Amino acid sequence: MKRVISFLIIIVLLPSLLLAKEGMWIPSLLNKFVEKDMRKMGMRLTAEEIYSINQASLKDAIIIFGGGCTGEVVSDQGLVLTNHHCGYGAIQSHSSVEHDYLTNGFWAMSKEEELPNPGLTATFLVRIEDVSEKVLAELNDNMTEAERSAAVKEKTDALIAEAEKDTHYKAVVKPFYYGNEYYMFLYEEYKDVRLVGAPPSNIGKFGGDTDNWMWPRHTGDFSVFRIYADKDNNPAEYSEDNVPYKPMKHLKISLKGYEKDDFTFVFGYPGSTEQYLPSFAIDNIVNEVNPIRIDMRTERLDIMNKYMEQDQKIRIQYAAKYAGTSNGWKKWQGENRGIERMDAIGKKQHLEKHFMEWAAMNDQRSKLYGGLVPAFEEIYTNLEPYSRARAFLLETLFGIEISRFSRNFKKLVTLSNADDPDEKAIEEQIEKIRKAAKGHFKNYHAPIDKEITAKMLDLYFHRLNRDLQPQIITEIIQDYDADFTAYAEELFDDSFMSSEKEVNEFLDKYKTRKAKKIEKDPAYVLGEALYNHYFSNILPATSQWDSDLDSLQRIYIRGLKEYQKNRRFYPDANFTLRVTYGKIQGYEPRDAVAYEYFTTLEGVMAKEDPDIYDYVVEDKLKELYHKKDYGRYAGDDGKMHVCFIASNHTSGGNSGSPVLNADGHLIGLNFDRNWEGTMSDLMYDPDMCRNITLDVRYALFIIDKFAGAGHLIDEMTIIE
Ligand code: ARG
Ligand code: ASP
Repeated sequence: MKRVISFLIIIVLLPSLLLAKEGMWIPSLLNKFVEKDMRKMGMRLTAEEIYSINQASLKDAIIIFGGGCTGEVVSDQGLVLTNHHCGYGAIQSHSSVEHDYLTNGFWAMSKEEELPNPGLTATFLVRIEDVSEKVLAELNDNMTEAERSAAVKEKTDALIAEAEKDTHYKAVVKPFYYGNEYYMFLYEEYKDVRLVGAPPSNIGKFGGDTDNWMWPRHTGDFSVFRIYADKDNNPAEYSEDNVPYKPMKHLKISLKGYEKDDFTFVFGYPGSTEQYLPSFAIDNIVNEVNPIRIDMRTERLDIMNKYMEQDQKIRIQYAAKYAGTSNGWKKWQGENRGIERMDAIGKKQHLEKHFMEWAAMNDQRSKLYGGLVPAFEEIYTNLEPYSRARAFLLETLFGIEISRFSRNFKKLVTLSNADDPDEKAIEEQIEKIRKAAKGHFKNYHAPIDKEITAKMLDLYFHRLNRDLQPQIITEIIQDYDADFTAYAEELFDDSFMSSEKEVNEFLDKYKTRKAKKIEKDPAYVLGEALYNHYFSNILPATSQWDSDLDSLQRIYIRGLKEYQKNRRFYPDANFTLRVTYGKIQGYEPRDAVAYEYFTTLEGVMAKEDPDIYDYVVEDKLKELYHKKDYGRYAGDDGKMHVCFIASNHTSGGNSGSPVLNADGHLIGLNFDRNWEGTMSDLMYDPDMCRNITLDVRYALFIIDKFAGAGHLIDEMTIIE
């Protein structure tokens, strides 16, 4: 028996050692680096079928959804799938206590019922161009970092202007490998994107923030949108006359499922990773910055939670803010544990030691690379107190809503104080503020903000060196005897920025053009104090070091590439389109624990708890479950599969990305990573890092059987 078990363990472990792949690859370069490898692992497509500028390819079905997610087109009428948490803002904006689409879901039963979302965009990539040579030709090694930036900007601006000329496209040039390479991305942005469907939160966000970043997972994290275009299929602002967009390509959806070790790839927009940082930087993130962020957010979340539990309206108002705050909070905790478990700092130190030895081996190398590691160390040592200060400041700025809102008045103050005030500009600014106020106050509850204000400043005061705190804290200490609650009480009593009514009354009466009342407003004063502290104290102190680090990193990567000739280098994520590939695989989170690679509706039922909002299972879903009424969406095992995991190297921004099988057919929607693997943004562990994907069959089952929106399925191309 023992032998059987160890044999099984070997079988279980082997594939993960042999097959897991790290990296996020530039789709236009697949043929150079990874196509062969992908095919060896089972892919039946060519690089040209994934990305091409000569013919329609899979890339033409991928969109940037809004500002930070991925989506994919799944019908010839512009139907889009993305995550529920990516559509969350849009769903929330149509929700009220009377029509609570967040809680109950929403389904447009005809195109007329689809809901417009001003500001929401769907952006297609037209093409990628390697402009490294053109940009680098303008640079030389004697330039200071500032001169270099200026030269890069000048050249890229020219390249962008040239690419955009006579088109409605938008071009962007981004540095890769810290500016060793440059690529240009040409985009086409569609501006009329309508909400088509969303499951209730107890499906789309099942398990909520408790299950977030966790495996095993049972979240039906999807929502459905549609892109509209003008009559010529071009981007247009929302109009009743717009028609569904006709894509060059839409993804085919496979109901065939998958098995362990099947090849998969993910095509989407990972936001940001930092794979090539030195050990000192990791030490700083894990031991200084993350703990501050985590502690400050723990307090904020507790305060929000207290109010959200008491009131349905507040729960809707703060749903997205809570989720966003909690998301980072939990990720950083996982990241810290993962870094520690992997001994990532030790591993990096090891690499640096050997890198230095290698550099010392000849004169030329030692001149180029010999000083790098000590230089990193010196800068990170200098930066340490400031990085703490920065973490406190950013969490405070981000956390206190009223002072952030007060920044809307900044321009009005400047305009009003001008020698010869521009009346028209002032009127425009007033209208802008009214609009901002409308959005801000829709989801605002002043008592929450008041408590958070007191708590953030209190933490700031008690946990950071005095000389790095903004001056206003010293004033509060003196005037209020360090009673931050009393300070916040008074701020919210005295400020006209704590309610929409007062803001509008103020603006209605803003005839005198005297900005004094704004400038004296305590919320505005706090906002000014925090921002000025950043721009006058923190930033000037750190900007030289930050720019030195940029240039050190650039040289370090160049050195590493020379040093590790056989390592597969890939550029850090920078919110550009990438391909990452891997295999469907479980993992072993801890000693004696092994996780399977998929979950089923059985697991949803097992987690059910009618008393907890995030774990409610609706009668309709239970009925389908009891009748096993899964139709063609069931797996071969007769079960309803909900989520699965694979070893694709993904990051934030990959949410909503299609997870594709060997034929390039859609089998799921990427939406998360496992907690043990969240350090993958800093260091990847093939044994531990998994991306979490919603099985597309569960999404289709919910659309069809649960919501009765089968007309949407009819639009799709289904492979059975
Ligand atoms: N962790 C996922 C990501 O980073 C999902 C976040 C949304 N879900 C949530 N429960 N907050 O975006
Ligand atoms: N949930 C993330 C996102 O929204 C994905 C991830 O971080 O793995 O993009």
